Formats: sequence, structure tokens, C-alpha cells
Amino acid sequence: MTRHLLVTGGAGFIGSNFVHHVLGTTDDTVTVLDKFTYAGHRASLAGLPEDRLTVVEGDITDAAVVDRLVGEADAVVHYAAESHNDNSLADPSPFLDTNLIGTYTLLEAARRHDTRFHHISTDEVYGDLALDDPARFTEHTPYNPSSPYSSTKAGSDLLVRAWVRSFGVRATISNCSNNYGPRQHVEKFIPRQITNLIDGIRPRLYGAGLNVRDWIHADDHSSAVLTILADGTIGETYLIGADGEKSNKDVVEQILTLMGHDAGDYDHVTDRAGHDLRYAIDSTKLRTELGWTPSYGSFDTGLAATIDWYRENEDWWRPQKAATEAKYAATGQ
Ligand code: NAD
Ligand code: TYD
Repeated sequence: MTRHLLVTGGAGFIGSNFVHHVLGTTDDTVTVLDKFTYAGHRASLAGLPEDRLTVVEGDITDAAVVDRLVGEADAVVHYAAESHNDNSLADPSPFLDTNLIGTYTLLEAARRHDTRFHHISTDEVYGDLALDDPARFTEHTPYNPSSPYSSTKAGSDLLVRAWVRSFGVRATISNCSNNYGPRQHVEKFIPRQITNLIDGIRPRLYGAGLNVRDWIHADDHSSAVLTILADGTIGETYLIGADGEKSNKDVVEQILTLMGHDAGDYDHVTDRAGHDLRYAIDSTKLRTELGWTPSYGSFDTGLAATIDWYRENEDWWRPQKAATEAKYAATGQ
């Protein structure tokens, strides 16, 4: 049966990868609701079948537009967010509006229309792990967010849980690890270093660079979300990860090598305030209960393909690059 999906934030990095995935692998139709902030790009949705995709420019805090679009959808997949930790340290205000009030506005509409709701969240709600801790995050790890970004995402998860329990909203939640792949904003770690190297700038590592992130390709995130949408149990949370733990230093060295440079050709810069040490996901529940597995065999292959994408799509990222680097220069990063 074909469905009509409302995808909030569908012009951003992970949302646009999800829209490409859905239109490429199902017969579903999609409406994207996106504010087109600095992080949303019409070019990220170019070339998709026009008869199956509608793009609406609007704000998820706008109750009228949200009510209309949620009422027309069979399911909502909620990606829209302010998503960058460094920005949240510079100005938390839009994070409160979009991540908290925006999620509340969508939940109220899903409640009125009894629309199936899937909430996209992050493993950063759990805070961080020590570098030498063998543990990984599970669905039972207590919430302990560190930054304005992760605390507003944690708050949005709790709103979803409360709307399930108090009002019977048919919602699921997923908390995913760090994504990489095409169409990620150049403010984020991996695209920043790739595009710096294309521009002849040395990569920048925050602090000692020993912090660990657990990387997953955005396309594997999309397949996991479709699996949860189809087979997930209402009210449940699923952690999404692909066993991709790497230190930032290892990632930078790998990018340098893949791009034909000496692995040591990078600089250490001012560390991020409150910088989380390590994230690591245990995705056993998703794999055993719903039978999901990632399809990107190795980070190395996915990273090489991502480097190729940025080399081949300079038109997409070039307009964002100078302003992004100017913002970093102001903080010594
Ligand atoms: P992104 O910043 O690339 O995209 C966010 C999108 O939301 C943009 O298109 C933007 O225009 C839109 N948006 C922002 N405010 C809006 C508003 N008020 N109304 C409507 N649209 C609005 O973010 P991303 O990296 O693609 O992250 C998407 C989601 O995935 C977020 O909820 C984030 O918390 C979550 N997530 C991200 C990662 C990661 O590694 N980037 C990992 C796990 C979870
Ligand atoms: P980022 O992509 O901002 O994702 P998150 O903060 O959600 O994990 O950063 C990933 C890691 O890379 C994080 O430990 C911060 C670090 N980092 C750098 O070392 N240099 C950089 O230029 C950036 C943007 C991030």
C-alpha cells in the first residue's frame, strides 16, 4: 500500500537523503515541510520525480500550516531541527523554538488527526562515555545531555513520550549516531575537512582530536527509519548505529590519505566548550526485533564515495563555504 509521508526538514542533510531513499525504493509520495534556514537547500531535492514530491516552505512552529499538512499525511517523519552543537553554543535561542516548540506543534497536530508520527533524534541525548569505557548507549541509558543542542533534542524526545502516554499519539522515536554522506552542510566535521582540503586549507581538529564518534552512512539511517515506520512498536525507542566508532584524529588522517595528502597535515584548534568525549551505539534491539542491518559494509568505502561527491558537487557547497569559515574564524576554530 502506498503512503503519503510528511517529512519535516526534508531539505536538510539527513532529511533529503531520506526523501531520495523513499522515492527511490518505495511507491510512497512525500510532502517536505522545510523553513529553508541556512541548512536547507532546494538543490538537495533536485531531480526527484515531481509527481510524487511536494515541497512546502514553512515553519514547524506555524500551527496552521502544520495542522493542514499533518491532516493530509498518513505518517509524519520529523527531521526538522537546529542541528549543530557549535551554533547552539553561540546562540541557543532558535534551538528552543524549533526543537521544542516545533516538535510540540507537530505532536498537537498528530494528536488531533491521529496521524502516525516518527521522531528523529540523536544519541547525544545520552551525554558521553569515557574513552576507555567498554559500554555503549542502549535504549535504557539515562538521559544526560551536554549542550543546548542535545538538551533541546532530549526535551523533544520527552515531549513525544508524554504525548504517547497522555494522549495516545501513535509515535516511535529513533536515536541515531553521527551521520555522514552526500549533502551534509560544510559546517559539520567531515564535509568541513574535505572542502577545506579542496580549497588548500589544512583540516582543523578540536583539542587533541581523541574524541570518538560512531559513524553511520545517511542512507543506512534512512533504511532504519523506514523499518521502524513499518514494523516498530508504538511508544518504543530504537537506537540506530552501524558499529562505526572512530576518533576524530583517525577520521582526519583517513580523509587526508584518501585525498592524496600526508596523514599528519592537519592543525589542532581551540576545543569545543563541554565537548562530549565519546558516543557509541548498541543497536541490538533494532537488529534483533525488527531485522534491520546496515548495507554500507565499511566506513572507508562510504568516506571515499562522500569525498567524490564533494569533489563533483562544488556548486552545491560553494555558496555556504566562506560564511561558514568566517564564523569559525571568529571563535579560533
Ligand atoms: P540539518 O541542519 O542539515 O537540516 C535541518 C533541516 O531542518 C534544514 O533543512 C532546515 O531548513 C530545517 N529546519 C530548521 N528549522 C526549521 C523549522 N523551524 N521549520 C521547518 N524546517 C526547519 O540537520 P541534519 O543533520 O539533517 O539533522 C536532521 C535531524 O536528524 C535532526 O533532528 C537531528 O537532530 C537528527 N540527527 C542528526 C544527526 C547527524 O549526524 N547530523 C545524527 C542523529 C540525529
Ligand atoms: P560535528 O560534525 O559537529 O558533530 P557532533 O558535534 O554532533 O558530534 O563534530 C563531530 C566531531 O568532530 C566532534 O567531536 C567535534 C569535532 N570537530 C572537529 O574536530 N573539527 C571541526 O572542524 C568540527 C566542525 C568538528
